[in-house]
Amino acid sequence: IGAGYVGGPTMSVIADKCPNIKVTVIDIDDKKISSWNDVDLRNLPIFEPGLKEVIERCRNKNLFFSSDIKKSISEADMIFISVNTPTKNKGFGAGYASDLKWVESSARQVAEFSQGHTIIVEKSTVPVKTAELIQEILKSSSSSDEYKKTFSVLSSPEFLAEGTAIKDLENPDRVLIGGEDQNAMESLSNIYKNWIPKEKILKTNIWSSELSKLTANAFLAQRVSSINAISALCETTGAEISEVVMAIGSDKRIGSKFLSPSPGFGGSCFKKDILNLVYLCRFYGLNDVANYWEQVMFMNNWQKHRISSLIIQKLFGTVSSKKILILGFSFKPETNDTRESPAIEICKDLIENGAELLINDPKVSKVQIEIELGLKEFENNNRNIGKWQFITDINKAAENADAIVIVTEWEEYKNLNWRKLSDLLRKPSWIFDTRGIIPISLLKELNSYYWQIGSPSKNYND
Ligand code: NAD
Ligand code: UGA
Repeated sequence: IGAGYVGGPTMSVIADKCPNIKVTVIDIDDKKISSWNDVDLRNLPIFEPGLKEVIERCRNKNLFFSSDIKKSISEADMIFISVNTPTKNKGFGAGYASDLKWVESSARQVAEFSQGHTIIVEKSTVPVKTAELIQEILKSSSSSDEYKKTFSVLSSPEFLAEGTAIKDLENPDRVLIGGEDQNAMESLSNIYKNWIPKEKILKTNIWSSELSKLTANAFLAQRVSSINAISALCETTGAEISEVVMAIGSDKRIGSKFLSPSPGFGGSCFKKDILNLVYLCRFYGLNDVANYWEQVMFMNNWQKHRISSLIIQKLFGTVSSKKILILGFSFKPETNDTRESPAIEICKDLIENGAELLINDPKVSKVQIEIELGLKEFENNNRNIGKWQFITDINKAAENADAIVIVTEWEEYKNLNWRKLSDLLRKPSWIFDTRGIIPISLLKELNSYYWQIGSPSKNYND
């Protein structure tokens, strides 16, 4: 249930690896299901490297995308709930707690339409104890139905990252199965065993499984906030973040991964999962623990606004009517997902201060940017603010722009002709590299001032 960023790729890989299992992915969004069924594979609702190939191999063989919720549920022996669990935006817990209405509606659909024995697997990221809610809903249906229905609820959270979803699903560090019913756990484990070595299939109690997912995301996000905090200190002290990363990352206890400084973490999950963890801690009276994790979020917000304000400050304290080329709008490369992308806040801050943004992204559409910025291309809603436009020709856009800001580290941006681009800019010009993708040696040769995250910058007075 749920044909999104998790349900689509996860179930496609299960179908690919288990040709003898029939997989049906359902969604309440009929348009999304039509896109998953589109003969032109360029129109799949999400972009993930390797996904097209998997769909091509399995679709309409043992992988189906359907809007027929009733029939699909009634035929299923095992159901993965992969629906959205965003932060609540109103009511109790607003701004922190997860909104479980989609999980609840899925459970109610299962309760209504399932037949015989059904194993329900929580794939969505949920607060600890959500399985209890699902069990409660299912229990009410099993007792009232004249045909006996039975259920087993398991937790098997998904750890894939966008942009590498297929690789992560095909070769995960581990999969987690939390539950009490040993038979149901064995059935799910048998599916994973088709391609995952059994020592990577970890079994825990259901609450540990639910909590491990929130904890994994909190730890990952914490690393990003930690390195981003140090990036600011590097800039003021003359230390180089890349050297610090190399030095600390070679300690096996710290490890070298997930230490790239950035304009802040984005994506649909880190923010919502940390906020959810904070909510849970407060709910259980652990206020100091809640405050500790909330700092990870504060640091992330601080980093985004630190960058937009330093851009303004370096451009003589005003960006009013200045043209700024923004490279990248997705929250990371190799995805068209813009949810919580740091580009959103940075662009909003610059537009609010009067800038004219020229935004490029290899995969994000103009319409998506309009939605995220809440502002149509070329418009400023008659407010005294700047505006933005979508551009595809980076060289042309650079002509007479005042600055370039690299926000997402797409591979193609690393390979641009930076000397030429720098020459095209109106002087004095600036290059802001928020991801550290241009070698400092090259930046030093350019005909522009520069700021690179976590490194000493080249300013007017240098
Ligand atoms: P998404 O919004 O892309 O997809 C969820 C889909 O579920 C939507 O298409 C929605 O229409 C559908 N849906 C909602 N209620 C439904 C119902 N009752 N019946 C049928 N369909 C229904 O969300 P996502 O990014 O795939 O995330 C899903 C869950 O997985 C979340 O809990 C998220 O935290 C978790 N997760 C996401 C990622 C990621 O990289 N995006 C990774 C790991 C875990
Ligand atoms: C993240 C986790 O990595 C997945 O394991 C998890 O399943 C998923 O969240 C989820 O629950 O949704 P994702 O958000 O897709 O995956 O992407 P990441 O690669 O984790 O990147 C998240 C953000 O952190 C991006 O904006 C990225 O640019 C940023 N980041 C990442 C850094 O700033 N520095 C780093 O070193 C790594």
